[in-house]
Amino acid sequence: ATATRALFMLFGATGDLAKRKLYPSIFNLYKKGYVDNDHFALIGTGRREWSDEKFREVILDSVSANADSEEQAKVFASHFYYMSHDVTNPEHYDALSDYANKLDQQYDIEGNRIFYISMAPNFFGTVAKNLKAHNCLSDNGGFNRLIIEKPFGRDYDTAEELNNALAKSFNENQVYRIDHYLGKEMVQNIIALRFGNPLIEGIWNNKYIDNIQVTLAEKLGVEERAGYYDGSGALRDMVQNHTMQMLTILAMEDPISFKDVDIRREKIRALRSMHVYTEDEARQNFVRGQYGANGDQRDYRHEDNVPNDSITETYVAGKVLFENKRWKNVPFYIRTGKMLTDKFTRIDVVFKKPLVDIFASAKGTESELNNNVLTLFVDPVNKIILRLNGKQAGQGMEMQPLDLTHTQSDEEKAATPEPYERLIHDAILGNATNFASWDEVSRAWEFADVIRHVWDTDKPDFPNYTPGSMGPDAADELLARDGRAWVFNS
Ligand code: BG6
Repeated sequence: ATATRALFMLFGATGDLAKRKLYPSIFNLYKKGYVDNDHFALIGTGRREWSDEKFREVILDSVSANADSEEQAKVFASHFYYMSHDVTNPEHYDALSDYANKLDQQYDIEGNRIFYISMAPNFFGTVAKNLKAHNCLSDNGGFNRLIIEKPFGRDYDTAEELNNALAKSFNENQVYRIDHYLGKEMVQNIIALRFGNPLIEGIWNNKYIDNIQVTLAEKLGVEERAGYYDGSGALRDMVQNHTMQMLTILAMEDPISFKDVDIRREKIRALRSMHVYTEDEARQNFVRGQYGANGDQRDYRHEDNVPNDSITETYVAGKVLFENKRWKNVPFYIRTGKMLTDKFTRIDVVFKKPLVDIFASAKGTESELNNNVLTLFVDPVNKIILRLNGKQAGQGMEMQPLDLTHTQSDEEKAATPEPYERLIHDAILGNATNFASWDEVSRAWEFADVIRHVWDTDKPDFPNYTPGSMGPDAADELLARDGRAWVFNS
């Protein structure tokens, strides 16, 4: 393992994400030796008045379960320092800068700095601007990198404004926009499967593929996040970012190498060939939903902190088209929602049927052959199933579905890092492959904004789906209209 020296500066250190994901991830990187155990420190900031002791207790709390010994966790936590910080107060940044320089010397960090912003999005730009203005970036040969959490804006204009604010302090190649779906094992495996196998890449086009379906289903409702969620909705929360990223990796052309610049170039090209709908097309090709009540489950409008006339969508389904040679006439259907049958993410690649069914024609019957389907299960288990047609055992020539299945083993699972651990590690190494570039994010907003605008204008007929179902009927009709159906439908 290459041990990297690094000083982290975390904005949002008292937050839930930090406790649940970031500290355990940094701890794992520390344990594995990716973060130099002697030459690292973290300054956590937040509005609250915490002491270093209080901060370290929180760290211990969040990493202890995973520590080899109490001592190990304590030593790790001793590298954590807390500063109470008002993001709008310039003097606070001067203090931060001094503290960073002091810790850099104390731990001999050689100027490597990772700034991590994980707080209310309206402050992202302010923080980034002040960091540079108040000399919080190192200037002695180390790296300065910014990791920034979602949401990256709430439409094209606000995203651009934020991006301009970041650009005052960081170059595009120093900015790491988190999309944790890009840290998932099976999402990364799409690239491996596509570009490591002529067998797959050879048929990855409109000659053999009929349609591709991407489903990001959640079993839970909004829980206690309604304050954020009601101002966002599923289109912003799941489609513009995670779903678009997955589509892009499925649709992109072969990168000339696995380097981040080469992959990004192809992702951007794919997104540029994605058809941005007119408003009328958006109405025809996108469906929204909001969950109703079911038994003990309240309807969305009666969840805590949701206005009882909310038109926020908790479900989206849609058809996405890429206008290029590879994908002409191949629809990509997407859907995501809260309160669905179960928590899972899957990709179904549906292949065309044989042009002629020789088995049926010999018998003079209708073809009973199924479409071949390659299903990639992203969550909760990493699994791949290739559904073929095969022969039923015995006399005669009856056909039946035949599944080739690969399931990740327990050992593989244990060796699979959590998305956050993997992504922070990538940022430490300066590898931006699995982060969203501005060109990607902005294009995705252009696409989502049209739909958003239509939905903000038209009055929805909510609620329109039952908790525990796979969403509104209109999502099935969207495919039925094209003579198709969702592969997973229960
Ligand atoms: C987040 C959304 O980005 O992704 C949440 O804000 C959603 O609403 C979550 O629940 C889903 O992530 P995962 O990894 O659990 O599928």
